[in-house]
Amino acid sequence: MQIISRADAMQKLALRWKRQSVRVGFVPTMGYLHAGHLSLVREARKRAGKNGKVVVSIYVNPTQFAPTEDLAKYPRDLKRDLKLCREAGVDVVFTPDDAEMYPSRQNSKFKIQNSKSFSTYVVEEKLSQSMEGVTRPTHFRGVTTVVAKLFNLVLPDMAVFGQKDFQQAAIIQRMVRDLNFPVKIIVAPTLREADGLAMSSRNKYLDAEQRAQAVILFHALQAAKAAMARKSISAARLKSDLKEFLTAAPQARLDYVEFFNPETLEPVTQVEPGTQMALAVFVGKTRLIDNAKL
Ligand code: PAJ
Repeated sequence: MQIISRADAMQKLALRWKRQSVRVGFVPTMGYLHAGHLSLVREARKRAGKNGKVVVSIYVNPTQFAPTEDLAKYPRDLKRDLKLCREAGVDVVFTPDDAEMYPSRQNSKFKIQNSKSFSTYVVEEKLSQSMEGVTRPTHFRGVTTVVAKLFNLVLPDMAVFGQKDFQQAAIIQRMVRDLNFPVKIIVAPTLREADGLAMSSRNKYLDAEQRAQAVILFHALQAAKAAMARKSISAARLKSDLKEFLTAAPQARLDYVEFFNPETLEPVTQVEPGTQMALAVFVGKTRLIDNAKL
């Protein structure tokens, strides 16, 4: 397994693969890998084939964090991540740093090269307005920008994203379509802990008490499925029922719960089979998200 930290070296290798018609599958991550990430790697491996290459990027992207968010304390363990990637049969781990990805006056490496400052962003203007985009208004601009940059450096034939971040996957699909990236986007299912909690690097922030209460997100999805199975139900009614339901976990505070069309992300007024549900809940200070098709 090769570890590449320079952007130009990654792109050079990717261009060589292109000339040799090597199929490349790509899994972008922010590291602190768990079984959910590794399921995406397996999917990329399956689709790239025996002669293809699988690239995983590990980069905690500062532009998708607001100043008040957890950039500085986002969990990191590169040594363990590399071991997991090696065991999973990854060909290349791309581990750029901020100076490689966002050359600017602020990066010490470029202190005297003021002309190198970074000023171009990729902005999706519609799907990114709701849900995560309300609480985190600059988040998706950071995501689309970094993913576009990573696509230009890795030049993948296909890239695998998790359903766990449903809105993110929809926005990336839209970006690829709108800007004609020659990349096939695959969305893979959410991996869960035994009790149903969606795996996430941020679960590490939870203490034992909070961890036990965090399963309320999964239970809320199940409760909504059960309520809808009995009869078609108004989104407003289901929202208020779920708000009540969440009070069972005293450390949980609802940020949003939405019911929407899975293609357009447009909110629906009546919840029906096939409606997508997504929610964000603070458990203590940790903000967790989950979603499901009802
Ligand atoms: P990160 O949170 O590290 O997630 C990387 C990928 O793993 C995403 O596509 C995410 O949806 C997927 N993933 C996370 N938890 C999962 C689970 N329980 N089951 C299946 N897949 C899961 O998402 C990001 O990083 C960043 O925004 C990134 C796309 C890398 C851009 O910086």
